[in-house]
Amino acid sequence: MTVPAAFNAFRIHNDDAGYRSGIEAVSIDDLAPGEVVIKSAYSSINFKDALAGTGEGKILRKFPLVGGIDVAGHVVASSDAKFKEGDAVLVTGCGLSEVRDGGYSEYARLEAKWAIPLPAGLSLRESMVLGTAGFTAALALFRLLENRQAPELGPLAVTGASGGVGSLALDIFSRAGFEVHAISGKADQADYLKSIGASQVLGRDALATTRPMESARFGGGLDNVGGPMLASLLAQTAPYGNVATAGLAATHELDTTVMPFIIRGASLLGVASAGTARAIRDEIWQRLASDWKPAHLDRICTREVALSELPQVFPAMLAGGSLGRTLVVI
Ligand SMILES: NC(=O)c1ccc[n+]([C@@H]2O[C@H](COP(=O)([O-])OP(=O)(O)OC[C@H]3O[C@@H](n4cnc5c(N)ncnc54)[C@H](OP(=O)(O)O)[C@@H]3O)[C@@H](O)[C@H]2O)c1
Repeated sequence: MTVPAAFNAFRIHNDDAGYRSGIEAVSIDDLAPGEVVIKSAYSSINFKDALAGTGEGKILRKFPLVGGIDVAGHVVASSDAKFKEGDAVLVTGCGLSEVRDGGYSEYARLEAKWAIPLPAGLSLRESMVLGTAGFTAALALFRLLENRQAPELGPLAVTGASGGVGSLALDIFSRAGFEVHAISGKADQADYLKSIGASQVLGRDALATTRPMESARFGGGLDNVGGPMLASLLAQTAPYGNVATAGLAATHELDTTVMPFIIRGASLLGVASAGTARAIRDEIWQRLASDWKPAHLDRICTREVALSELPQVFPAMLAGGSLGRTLVVI
């Protein structure tokens, strides 16, 4: 298959004319170099994509770049012998829409070292309903289990539960045998949250405390929000429980005390999906395609959009309005 001379991509600029993004025609040589060229089938929308697409966050480290931190599609050409025409591959993170052109493009040029052969057990579509959000939720579970998290320690709390990472964490954690409590600002979505794995749904202020320690209510959890919510979750975590921190949907700040760590032995574990080493990346995608594969991907994929519709989705996402995952059909 040949790549057309010009094709559509959602490109982000920041120059004398200001910060702007939109669909434009590009050629393959406009894209960052890479060994593997794919015809993109799907991408997805993550919080980081909304920050990058609107300029509300400093995500891109060079301009212009094609947006989209996730992409999946079929190989059109490869100068690396590990890939051949027709192979199904995916990439999440790994510098896409940060230091190199991303997945919001009809064709994408990828580095072979980060291209993951689509694991058996996942369709291309499912891989992008998961995307960075699913990879991050699974990476959080991986980190928790590495540090001996066990269902016996108590339920896991998931904050920002209605969002992409949150929704997939509810499903994946419950599949892995944990009782999961959703912390959400969307009381009207309690039925949705329960249908994808939450055994209880609590409001955003249910955790609220300014005390350094509270009674231990959770075995640990995953925080997507930052700030007082993360501090309160730590204060309510059981002895030797773990809290994974992945997000800053409310704030990047964290004001806490050492008490949960030195009195209860609680741990705060970092989750950084974009820079995950290849060996762990491979292991997580294998788990996502098998025993950790979410049981409710169809329900969690609440919306499908075309490249041209991206700008309509970003503002609502940044305002906390996400529900599940938005798939980009290319
Ligand atoms: N570390 C990593 O590798 C990594 C990877 C992916 C994402 N992230 C981060 O994780 C977070 C979630 O990403 P996402 O793609 O899942 O975003 P998303 O789909 O937009 O979900 C964010 C959720 O956070 C909650 N929220 C939003 N604003 C809030 C506020 N002011 N106070 C409290 N809760 C608020 C909302 O859930 P409720 O209405 O249910 O409360 C919202 O649905 C983002 O900060 C993102 O940057 C990090």
